[in-house]
Amino acid sequence: MAEQKQMGKIKVIVCQDKQEVAREGANIFAQAVRENPAIVMGLATGGTPVGMYKKLIQMHKEEALDFSRASSFNLDEYLGLSGDHDQSYRYFMDENLFNHINIDKSKTRVPDGKAQDTQMSCRKYEEDIRAAGGIDMQLLGIGSNGHIAFNEPGSGGDSRTRVVDLTEGTVRDNARFFEDGSQVPRKAVTMGIGTILEAKKIVLLATGSNKADAVTKAIKGSVSSAVPASFLQHHPDCTFIIDREAATGL
Ligand code: F6R
Repeated sequence: MAEQKQMGKIKVIVCQDKQEVAREGANIFAQAVRENPAIVMGLATGGTPVGMYKKLIQMHKEEALDFSRASSFNLDEYLGLSGDHDQSYRYFMDENLFNHINIDKSKTRVPDGKAQDTQMSCRKYEEDIRAAGGIDMQLLGIGSNGHIAFNEPGSGGDSRTRVVDLTEGTVRDNARFFEDGSQVPRKAVTMGIGTILEAKKIVLLATGSNKADAVTKAIKGSVSSAVPASFLQHHPDCTFIIDREAATGL
């Protein structure tokens, strides 16, 4: 059974294992979709949310969880990759979620990694989020260095959607997904920390011992751009769903 604790403003749910993290995360999202079918979801890629997406697909198929009125904005995309590249985040989202539920694909948004004018396209992404009424529920993972989306250490709490350089560590972490490590992009388009903090509710998932240090600093450390996830301490409605391995420092 998951254990709940309140740490400052952050609610922490500690699960037995990553399967339970996936279930808890999916339950929170599913309930939000049922309460507000026209929900605007903020979504993440990476290894961590895959189990939760599988659960949501199962709930759609077996329990008629209905995404027909929902829309979404993804956190980030590699710069230079088009949506049909099999390592792009657009491709990831299609494969791991959108192709298997009844969401209207035209209402799913991922930053454009191939925009001619990146500044304009970042500004437009922010405008589109605002025009949609803001993000109702934002899903996050966390990097082993404390990054959220691709806001690497040094990112300001008021940063907005923009092009960023990935750190060597992040490039290394992401290389496992690429056949040829030299092909890993070194730049990305990411929502800013300020953009993320405007979501009405935030749910962060973390599993495994390699995330324990980042999780501890995010929740108990001082709020600073050295650990971008620490800015979440300022958010009024943020829940961390983590497994026991990621919770060892709490
Ligand atoms: C992905 C993203 C990243 C990941 C983080 C953890 O959209 O924004 O911040 O959430 O790098 O990645 P995994 O889940 O692969 O450990």
